[in-house]
Amino acid sequence: MKKIVILVSGRGSNMIAIADACRRQGWPAQIVAVIANRPDTQALRDASELGLHTEVLDSTGATDRAHYDARLADLVDGFEPSLVVLAGYMRILSDAFVDRFEGRLVNIHPSLLPAFPGLRSHQQALRAGVKIHGATVHLVGRQLDGGPIIIQAAVPVLAGDDEQSLAARVLRAEHRIYPLAVRWLIEERLDFDEQTVRLRAQSGESQWLTCFDALEDEAVALGADGTDLRPVNAPCVSGAVR
Ligand code: GRF
Repeated sequence: MKKIVILVSGRGSNMIAIADACRRQGWPAQIVAVIANRPDTQALRDASELGLHTEVLDSTGATDRAHYDARLADLVDGFEPSLVVLAGYMRILSDAFVDRFEGRLVNIHPSLLPAFPGLRSHQQALRAGVKIHGATVHLVGRQLDGGPIIIQAAVPVLAGDDEQSLAARVLRAEHRIYPLAVRWLIEERLDFDEQTVRLRAQSGESQWLTCFDALEDEAVALGADGTDLRPVNAPCVSGAVR
């Protein structure tokens, strides 16, 4: 049984999506702790309701990042996790923390990286006038919102969108791709180097393009040539398989 530690700062909807998928799909994994850097967060309340073990390491006033992160790393390590999942964890992590959990530290960012790293990605996307926006799950590298990309979901930017409506559309996509990526990591289906992640094929696919209305619990290959004839407002994910 693999052990997962989830780090949160606020709302915790991705944490719930992962916890739900883990339970419903019977992953060979257990969420051993949900750790928040702030007390009194929705994520902690929901985690407790789900019966998950919670911890708080309050970062209020923690100006010495190296010191705080060293304590956090010790706390996380105490649970002996195979995987550390950042789910709306809003602090920048020190290089020492990233290095300590290299290859087993994963994050979701609400943009199609490398576009729009950092804060307010939806506002950045609207200001740039892009027509396609989305979310990215990636292994965490030292660079902010950098590291090998595991999966991306694209959603349209619609006329009349504001930050809230766009964020809501992206968040629905996040809740589909983050559990999928975490499951692949748990099942050790991913090969990665410093830049690239490959999903090991289960049925001989070489390229998949998946639409969420076709995506139930597992990605469905829809065409090696990447042809996608589905409606423009159907979020899609795409990736290479070998
Ligand atoms: C998500 O949009 C995620 O991509 C970003 O922070 C937000 C967290 O939302 N890193 P939640 O706490 O999972 O609801």
